[in-house]
Formats: sequence, C-alpha cells, structure tokens
Amino acid sequence: MDRIRLSGGNSLYGTVAVSGAKNAALPLIAATLLAPGWHTLENVPDLRDTRTMLKLLEILGAEWEREGKRVRINTDNLSGTEAPYELVKTMRASVLVLGPLLARLGTARVSLPGGCAIGARPINYHLQGFEQLGITTSLNEGYVEAKVENRLQGGSVYFDKPSVTGTENILMASVFAQGQTIIKNAAREPEIANLIDMLTAMGAEIEGKGSDRLTINGVTRLKATVSSIIPDRIETGTYMIAVAAAGGKVEIQDCVPAHLPALTEKLLRCGVDIEVGESSLKVCCPISRSENRCQLKSVDVTTLPYPGFPTDLQAQFMALMALGNGTAVIHETIFENRFMHVAELERMGADIKIDGASAIVRGVGRRGLSGAQVMATDLRASASLVVAGLAAEGETEISRIYHLERGYENMVKKLADLGADIHRISE
Ligand code: EPZ
Repeated sequence: MDRIRLSGGNSLYGTVAVSGAKNAALPLIAATLLAPGWHTLENVPDLRDTRTMLKLLEILGAEWEREGKRVRINTDNLSGTEAPYELVKTMRASVLVLGPLLARLGTARVSLPGGCAIGARPINYHLQGFEQLGITTSLNEGYVEAKVENRLQGGSVYFDKPSVTGTENILMASVFAQGQTIIKNAAREPEIANLIDMLTAMGAEIEGKGSDRLTINGVTRLKATVSSIIPDRIETGTYMIAVAAAGGKVEIQDCVPAHLPALTEKLLRCGVDIEVGESSLKVCCPISRSENRCQLKSVDVTTLPYPGFPTDLQAQFMALMALGNGTAVIHETIFENRFMHVAELERMGADIKIDGASAIVRGVGRRGLSGAQVMATDLRASASLVVAGLAAEGETEISRIYHLERGYENMVKKLADLGADIHRISE
C-alpha cells in the first residue's frame, strides 16, 4: 500500500488553492438523480470518494464525464435502484442516493453502510424521516429496502441530533412530496446550503436555508441545471492548522473564511496571526530560530454541529495542541470513537490521555515531537498525522494513505509546493 514520507522542520511559505468540498460534492452528485437531462457541476474535487459516488451513479444507470473541475452527469436512463454492499462499505455517504431514488422512482435498496473507524454511524434518523413522508422501510439481509406506498406525502420530520446527511436525504426525498414538508432541528452546515441552492435552481421550493428549520413545498418535476461546489472548509482548516504547526506564512486561496468561525477564533487564541479576506486567508506563524520560538498557546476545544468547532478538524487540532505550551482539553461530542489518531500521535512523542469523550493533551513544545512510522486509521486522522509530521524532528512515514486520499485533493503536491519535505511513496 502507498505511503507518505515527510521530514519535519520546514516552515511553509507561498499560496495554496482550496479544492471543492467533498461533503458538498457527494450530496450534489446524488441530487442529479432527481431530474433527467445533463447536469453540470463545477469545482468538483477529484477524490476517492467522489469517484466512488460517480461509480455508484453509473451502477444506477447514469453516465458522466469529467473535464478538469467540471463534471457533467446524465440521468435520463436510470436502470437500477440498488446500491450494493461492496461499494457502500467503502463509503457510507452512498446512503445519499436513498432520498433521490425514492423521490424519482419510488423505490430503493441500499446496503446499510455498517460502522466505520469513528463510530457506529447509524442511519435511523434517515429512516424515521422517510416514514414521515409515506415511505415504508425495512431491513433485509443488511440492506435498507424502501418504497413509496402511494404517493410521497409532505410531513414533519424532527432530528434528535442535527444530522448532516440525514437532513440532505430528507431534503431530496421531499422535493416531489404532496404538500409541505418541515424539517426541524435540521443541520446547518454550509454543504446543506450548497445542496439547497442546487435544488432551488432545479425548481424546488425550499425556505429556511442556513437555519435549523427547513420548509419544502412539493413540486411535480425538476430540471437539470448548472451548479458549483463550494470550497472545502475542512481542507481550508487543515492547511490553516498545518501552517500553525510548521510555522511560516501562507495565503490560502479560493476559500470561504466565513465557514470557519470557530477554528479561526481558536487559532487566534493560540497566537497565530490570521488575516481574513473575501475569498482567502493569510495565516502567519513565524518560528524564530532563537530560543523564544513562536510558542503555541494550548487552547481547549469542544466539537459541535455547525457553526461550532467541526468534528472533522478535531484530529488535526489535536496534533497542533501536542505542540502547545500547556495543557489543552479536547472534547468530542459528535462521534463516539474519534480518537483513533491518539495512539499514533503518541508514537511521535505526544502526551495525550483519553478520559471518556475528552482527550487531555499536554503540549511538548514546538519541537517536542519526533518522526516515526505511523498508520492512518481514517480520513481526518491521516491529516492529523501529516500535521504532526510537518512539525516533528526527523522523518515520519504514514501508511494506509488511501484514507487521506478519500478527502484531500493533491495534498502532497500542495504541501511540497509550500516548501514541505514530503513525498508519496508508491509500493
Ligand atoms: C457528515 O456525516 C459528514 N460526512 C462527516 O464528515 C461529518 O463528520 C459529520 O457529518 C458531522 O459533521 C458527509 O457529509 C459525507 P451526522 P454524517 O449524521 O451525516 C448521529 C469527513 O471526515 N446519527 O451529522 O454521517 C451520528 O452517529 C466525514 O468528511 C444517528 O445517531 O454525520 C453522529 O453522532 C466524517 N443516527 C451525529 O448523529 C442517524 O441516522 C451526527 O452525525 C444519523 C446520525
């Protein structure tokens, strides 16, 4: 399996451009199932996960073509309604085809995604929401079998927790439902607003964008359109943290600073300089060669639904706090097992103690980590190990980097262009 090898100690300088958001591209690709014709999606990142979603659409009968960042998808001739286990087990976001298939074809059979490294990842909220729309669901041989009984009926859907893909699935299932659908305690992530913009451009009637209460008035049909994927806020945040860890001065371009309120605040408290532009961020963290190097203040973090601190940046921020000048408490409230990176960071000399849903991180100082051979366990954990490797003394080798390549486009090249000593080793 391929691996990444990096030598720490180089500060990062220059500019880096952010790619389209993985977690917007996946629902927007699925949404093309709602209407026949040629859909155009701009700024689609070329990732393992987007390739998997496009493969799934092919299995369902769609055809697609990519030209640079533009992907065109035709769903005139859908020939299937089943998402197979072999594919769904590699990417749980495959469940996002449930909503559009039920809306367009009235039936769907999708493998239960199963758990993953960060948690059980149930989809009960999705299924409960479908039931409110006149859809019957059953579990059979590891598959969700769902069927519209007579006609999709508007209903009231309440999420116990603001589920991102749950909100997206119900949004897509309800666009043709008779009458009005209300989603309460809806998730408010920017990727959902991106989906709402696409559905509205296709002819859907949706109110409440950006709020936790969404109202959908059913229509009879939608049309294919042109939509653009928003910049990836988690990739943006990952590079902000990387500069804070390695030191240097980097302009992060083609991003939406307003999508990162919590991380920006936390990095400012760590002592990092951040200059916010319209669609770019300048991150500056000089590390002087003298003894009084730019200290990183240790700062506590609790992960929360948007606009709180994103769980998808928790692992990367923990790697940064491992370099801190004090003790930081990192509390994970979204997933029950999102500390898989701790053991790997400890191999690099980090001092972290897990206490239930919290990790107590005693900083070892800017040059306190040492390079080591470590293993990626999930997408954001692998990004955390890259952040640590950039700052560690010596060489770090990260195995199982297929995890990283699910969600970061050209990360090795982007970091090398900023001056990092990083290479991808093909085996
Ligand atoms: C989305 O996952 C993202 N994935 C995740 O990003 C992200 O970490 C997560 O939202 C939280 O922000 C995509 O958008 C493709 P949830 P999702 O439903 O929708 C519980 C990454 O690294 N829950 O918002 O699956 C769940 O267990 C990935 O890019 C239920 O109990 O997450 C969790 O505790 C990782 N039943 C909480 O709700 C359900 O039916 C929030 O999960 C659904 C969720």
